[in-house]
Amino acid sequence: MKSLNLLMGVLIAILVGLATWWTFRVNMEVGLRLVDNHCTVCHDDTKRAKNRKGPPLWGVYGREAGTAEGYGYSAAFMDKVAENPFVWDEGHLSAFIEDPNAFISNSEMGQAESEHTLYFTGIRNAANRRDVIAYLKTLQ
Ligand code: HEC
Repeated sequence: MKSLNLLMGVLIAILVGLATWWTFRVNMEVGLRLVDNHCTVCHDDTKRAKNRKGPPLWGVYGREAGTAEGYGYSAAFMDKVAENPFVWDEGHLSAFIEDPNAFISNSEMGQAESEHTLYFTGIRNAANRRDVIAYLKTLQ
């Protein structure tokens, strides 16, 4: 009877572990698809690291904000960075991607009234943002 209890305990622990892993796992394939659908219309995510409407996403993880070579950032973006310089880590990326306008008001990325009709309103789903960031980390 004792060994049966032990076996049940072990089984339950394994199930709880699996459920936790399933809930919090990052899904790189989803991340890639989300970036393809939501970002590459404005950003180059390849090694060529070209400036498009937005600066290149290649190497963005760990890069100091506002420092992509030759890219003309908006005044709103550079003001925010000058005030408080930072590196694109998980926290900053997640906040910017969740709601670009809340993170930097009037950045070129979130502006509806820019000369471009395209703008980005953000990804509200936290699991989706985790997957996007996991994929961005691979662009090195
Ligand atoms: C409608 C075009 C557009 C879309 C879509 C878009 N961005 Fe941007 N992004 C921009 C622009 C423009 C800038 C530069 C902002 C500025 O200068 O105000 C920018 C800036 C950035 C920066 C700052 C980089 C640096 O060099 O400091 C990051 C990070 C970023 N975008 C990530 C993303 C991600 C991830 C997605 C998709 C989830 C995305 N963007 C979708 C246009 C876009």
